[in-house]
Amino acid sequence: MQALHSNALVAVIGAGAMGAGIAQVAAQAGHPVKLYDNRPGAAAQAVAGIDRQLGRLVEKGKLAPEAREAISARLQPVEAIEALADARLVIEAIVEDLQVKQGLLRQLEGLCAPDCILASNTSSLSITRLAAGLQRPQQVVGMHFFNPAPLMALVEVVCGLATDPGIATTLYETARAWGKQPVHARSTPGFIVNRVARPFYAENLRLLQEGAADCATLDALLREAGGFAMGAFELTDLIGHDVNYAVTCSVFDAFYGDFRFQPSLLQKELVDAGRLGRKSGQGFYRYGEGAERPPAAELHTLASAEHCVAEGHLGVMQPLLERLRDRGVAITERAGSGLLRVGDATLALSDGRLASQRAREDGLGNLVLIDLALDYQAATRIAISWSADTTPEARDQAVALLQRAGLRVTGVADLPGLVVLRTVAMLANEAADAVLQGVGSAADIDLALCAGVNYPRGPLAWAEQIGVGYTLRVLDNLQRSYGESRYRPSLLLRRSDAQGARLHD
Ligand code: NAI
Repeated sequence: MQALHSNALVAVIGAGAMGAGIAQVAAQAGHPVKLYDNRPGAAAQAVAGIDRQLGRLVEKGKLAPEAREAISARLQPVEAIEALADARLVIEAIVEDLQVKQGLLRQLEGLCAPDCILASNTSSLSITRLAAGLQRPQQVVGMHFFNPAPLMALVEVVCGLATDPGIATTLYETARAWGKQPVHARSTPGFIVNRVARPFYAENLRLLQEGAADCATLDALLREAGGFAMGAFELTDLIGHDVNYAVTCSVFDAFYGDFRFQPSLLQKELVDAGRLGRKSGQGFYRYGEGAERPPAAELHTLASAEHCVAEGHLGVMQPLLERLRDRGVAITERAGSGLLRVGDATLALSDGRLASQRAREDGLGNLVLIDLALDYQAATRIAISWSADTTPEARDQAVALLQRAGLRVTGVADLPGLVVLRTVAMLANEAADAVLQGVGSAADIDLALCAGVNYPRGPLAWAEQIGVGYTLRVLDNLQRSYGESRYRPSLLLRRSDAQGARLHD
């Protein structure tokens, strides 16, 4: 299957934020594009807006003036839907309403050629349901762009039950020819990104609710240890809590109330209060003139650490030893079970148990748990938690060692899995279930999260780096701690661990 030829007419319906962006992408890729909106004048206004956008690109030297002219000449606003009859591909980006979209698709079926591809940019409606009742449901496919469409690389190509796989392939290739990063997805609630990304928000909201740390501290940990571009609180403030909460509720309802997707009362309270984030001037943070972001919490100590003992391989945390060595810390290595000893303190990567629980179960005195980092060589901050009977002196020795490695050290309450490890384990768990249920391939799901929401590493690749068995252990321990089905590990992780198989085929 090949991409649509660039001389094929593309029709975009709905000249709002998404429709205008999609029309721009298609015109930039060389297609003649007709843009239609049922609000009189809206399409012409959007085309003028696109031309201004292109003008800015010309000013910045990113687009040649002739290219701007050619692109704008390919964009035609139309005032009657009948003008779209000769389109080869129609992409609808109208209001998110099942009945209205179904009505539009019925009208298009009567208007366009039988082989015209009918694509929907819906982010939450079932493609199967949109196509049901049409004469040619095989022509209907999801083409889910991300906002802003000209900048975001990801396009989810979504198949409903009746979608012709050949058409999905054509759209996939077409999106690629448009310079996008397409992935295939099966029409299930949230498709890939809006489903697999839910734990990013959910776990951090829960950590906040359970008093792990404040928002600024949790955000700093996700950025500086986890390598995410933004923490969950600053990101949801940007997205808007009304929008983010509505997506969570819609996915939760669509999965018949599966607690994996349970919405947060904390976020609901913000929505109820009208604290919608940046757009309303306040969300988790305050915005506007003079508003300052509170600093992230940090532990300080006057203690120093010159020597430590590494017992056994530290797993994903092993590169920390290199970093300590580079900074002049003497390291004695001996056999053991992956512990780091400094003074009276015993340090270990979290395995999803509470520090106090692990200290008692494993008979470890002065236990200090360390969180996951994307890259222990490059991280600038790390979270620790400690057992109730860890002495302040031992904790200070642990802090001193990590500071010696050049890390800012943040203490969080003794909760299972700390912050980054818990977030990543739950993202990987959701990604694994999506693979198991045939929503997408492991490669596509990882790619979707990197290209769609800028994650620094795909959740499944990350689980493989941590170790599938280790990730599974973290989830088992989380589930044991909470006793909730929310933390039940995906069967795919258990099976891959049992078989010693990779998640990526
Ligand atoms: P919008 O409200 O900015 O634009 C929708 C446009 O559709 C309006 O100009 C409206 O006049 C027009 N419209 C409504 N009913 C129509 C009809 N029957 N025929 C022709 N035009 C009609 O909405 P936005 O944000 O652009 O979203 C559009 C679609 O894209 C929705 O399905 C939404 O779920 C989806 N989407 C939105 C994203 C976002 O971040 N805003 C991201 C990805 C998908």
